[in-house]
Amino acid sequence: MSKKLKLGVFGLGSVGQGFYELLDQSKNPNLEIKKIVIKNPTKTRTIESSIFSTTPTDILDDPEIDIVVELIDDAATALEILKLSLQKRKPIVTANKKMLAENLEEIFWLQRKYDTPVLYEGAVCGSIPIIRNLEMHYAFDTLESFEGIFNGSTNYILTKMIDEKSNYEEALNKAQKLGFAESDPTLDVKGYDAKYKLAITIAHSFGCFVKPEHILNLGIDKISAHDIRYAKQQGCAIKLIAKAEKIGNKVFGIVAPTLVPVENPLASVKNEFNAINLIGASTGLQMLTGKGAGSLPTGLVVLSDVASLASGFKYSYPKITNDNPVVFETDALINVHVSFSEAGAIRLTDFEEFTGGYQGEDGHFMTGWIRIKKLAEWVDRNDLSVIVLGDTPFKVYESKKEQELSLA
Ligand code: HSE
Repeated sequence: MSKKLKLGVFGLGSVGQGFYELLDQSKNPNLEIKKIVIKNPTKTRTIESSIFSTTPTDILDDPEIDIVVELIDDAATALEILKLSLQKRKPIVTANKKMLAENLEEIFWLQRKYDTPVLYEGAVCGSIPIIRNLEMHYAFDTLESFEGIFNGSTNYILTKMIDEKSNYEEALNKAQKLGFAESDPTLDVKGYDAKYKLAITIAHSFGCFVKPEHILNLGIDKISAHDIRYAKQQGCAIKLIAKAEKIGNKVFGIVAPTLVPVENPLASVKNEFNAINLIGASTGLQMLTGKGAGSLPTGLVVLSDVASLASGFKYSYPKITNDNPVVFETDALINVHVSFSEAGAIRLTDFEEFTGGYQGEDGHFMTGWIRIKKLAEWVDRNDLSVIVLGDTPFKVYESKKEQELSLA
């Protein structure tokens, strides 16, 4: 870095403050924040007021600003900022996972059209350098599957509830106070946040774009006392797991509470930490772990993206540009445990392969292989809790008709 680069920052929430603080402490002579655009000018802040503006064009139309750093909450406005930045040929760093996940294919093409990069390491798993690893380390390896803890708040809540016997509300409040949770925490607890991160990771791992609405997300909000007891009996932890797997030219994925055997290193990842197990054809199993949420861990990754832009780094999307196209498939079979309190709430025929069950005064459960499409029908049911049985892969779903044809 030789020229001093001027930055325009949108948003000064939890991640923005971490980013500001770290840049300030670094005393880096080559990076300077010229303007910070905020929504609420009346909020008391410790930073010199002349740096603030409420007018986006103060950044976007300023020819002196070299790099845009977008750290706002609202995905629609974040997308507008991203598009305007690219049109002005200003490289941009963003941590807005919803905006990225919903528009990644368009953003991929816009980067090419304007020959201007977008970096977004802070959008997936906080401080873990996952996108960068997929871009560089895994560029020539064929990834077979990955599974991980992609949301810090829910991992924090599960740790407090299961290990420390806190109640759900108390644990959620604490995750909010610590700045881990989204401003709308249902995005965390219902698995949407993890799903946005999963969609972005799928693009970089397997080279296919998937819209988040095509991925099923089940949250932690329906986990019952029975589930926690069952997990302990089975020698497992319960984690909110985002996972994806490539079978042939198809990719399958889901976010769901999952029984993770204690031998799996993900079982011992606690609090706001995230982790990802990657299985590559040449590399085998590799695990990355680190803080998945919080002002400084995420602010640091944003700062590192800014420094990377300054030294000319951009994503090359090696899996997307290769000539082995893969597609995301919404349906598959997955191995689950379903618990419910009223007899008859679900039927044996809901399963493609029923493997066992229990009916008693203290509750009911059934286990077996079930279609993701069937689980999607149950998303709004509050009388059921679905837990994926970990360490089992997806199975390709073949309708009865297809099975008969293949046997003929
Ligand atoms: N709410 C998110 C989480 C923040 O808890 O993981 C980091 O993306």
